[in-house]
Amino acid sequence: MTAESSLPVQVVDTMEHLDGRHAGYRRAHARGACFVATFTPTGDAAKYTTAAHLSGEPVSATVRFSNGSGNPAMPDTQPGGRGMAVKFALPDGTATDLIGVNLPRFLVATPAQFLDLVRALAADKDAGKGDKAHLQGFLAANPSSIPAFQALGEMGVPASFGTTAYAALHAFMWVNADGDRQAVRYRWAPSLGEQNLGPDEIANEEEQFLISEFASRLGRGPVTFTLHATLADPSDPTHDATQVWPADRPEIAVGELTVTGEVSDQDHWAAQIFDPTNLTPGIELSDDPLPNLRNAAYSVSYDRRSKGE
Ligand code: HEM
Repeated sequence: MTAESSLPVQVVDTMEHLDGRHAGYRRAHARGACFVATFTPTGDAAKYTTAAHLSGEPVSATVRFSNGSGNPAMPDTQPGGRGMAVKFALPDGTATDLIGVNLPRFLVATPAQFLDLVRALAADKDAGKGDKAHLQGFLAANPSSIPAFQALGEMGVPASFGTTAYAALHAFMWVNADGDRQAVRYRWAPSLGEQNLGPDEIANEEEQFLISEFASRLGRGPVTFTLHATLADPSDPTHDATQVWPADRPEIAVGELTVTGEVSDQDHWAAQIFDPTNLTPGIELSDDPLPNLRNAAYSVSYDRRSKGE
């Protein structure tokens, strides 16, 4: 890391310091697998957005489920972040991405805070096992990060990628045919409900079970998720993913994702990129500054892993 590095490069360098540098792997969510799916819109989003996949005919999609760590060997039997990245294939031949994690709100609001956070975690790692003094200092200076850390601390070990709820956390702007704009936040609700493993089940489980569990579950039939969008009031903050909106905001069911089986070429799909700024007409970024940092950091990670670094 040099003083001249851009913020996204500093972020990714620090993430590598934290989880190790694993050649060819994503610098976050390193362990994962891709699955074939179909997304069937309900039609209820049509009056808010012209996005081609959110109304009209079903579209095909590819879903990558993952563990949050940049270390691909992190055991599935440990609690922690789990990801659901969806790439929708659009009728015009382009694609758009929607990326969620199993958190109700994000850890930080700004790029500078994210860098401070990963630096604090790295300093704790360097200081020795179990030392959280730097994280505690970060939380004292950034109290809006505390609720997401509490949620992280309460996470269980999911029984399946299909029994986990995921949220995209940032606000996005829907734009309809009249040019009206509506801020939304997305969440995926598993039709199987949310299920975690108990301590005995964790003890009996293989260290890496989530991908094989999901593949064999699909052998018995599809797994579905409902995509919900919360509609913001104009007074709700769209720039800060640490703040949840009031619980009484209206929500619409946008559609259902039916996951049917593994992709035929995991290597091809592992080498793709899922990017929160890869949008389509009818959906725009909000004033949340994080998606643009993510776009830059994901590119740094992608460049390195594509070169086999
Ligand atoms: C500013 C904060 C963030 C930074 C710097 C960051 C960084 C990264 C990086 C470097 C990757 C690897 C990208 C690649 O090689 O393709 C990644 C993947 C991922 N991130 Fe983030 N991330 C951030 C916030 C988030 C948030 C808010 C979410 C959830 C809404 C999220 C969910 C994911 C998921 C699910 C993946 C795996 C995507 C895939 O399967 O290809 N990240 N992140």
